[in-house]
Amino acid sequence: MKSPNILQSQFVGASITRASLRSCFSSKLAKLALAASCAVTFPVLAADPPKGNIEAAKAKVSMCIGCHGIPGYRASFPEIYSVPKIAGQNEKYIQSSLRAYATGERTHPTMDAISKSLSDQDMADLAAYYSNLK
Ligand code: HEC
Repeated sequence: MKSPNILQSQFVGASITRASLRSCFSSKLAKLALAASCAVTFPVLAADPPKGNIEAAKAKVSMCIGCHGIPGYRASFPEIYSVPKIAGQNEKYIQSSLRAYATGERTHPTMDAISKSLSDQDMADLAAYYSNLK
């Protein structure tokens, strides 16, 4: 681990004191934190430009609630038992599922038709909305 010391010496001069060792350690932590935050945010940014808007989704969920349950309602009615629960589901998962139906990668008669009527922004909004429903 030579480079942090070399870097450090530019900031604190030649004398390696306990204080400089401590700040060297914290600058390593800062770098780790930076690396970790890049690792977390990069795939998110790369995967999806449109940002979901929960408020905007409220005008769009009327076409989903008949099958996926009313907002905030956990249980399905017996006759729609096989409809998956999407409230609280992972945002990216919802978004990519909708895209998969729209592109034909995944098929289901009603979901195909519905997802084809949605824009990328609609999918992002709906994903944000449903992932935030408990
Ligand atoms: C006519 C009933 C119906 C409507 C309306 C409907 N869905 Fe679905 N949805 C289903 C069924 C049934 C499935 C399961 C299909 C399958 O097995 O692939 C499903 C699957 C899904 C999935 C994948 C869930 C998973 O666990 O993989 C998502 C996400 C989804 N719907 C979102 C929506 C959204 C958002 C809307 C409104 C724009 C909507 N659906 C409207 C019936 C419906």
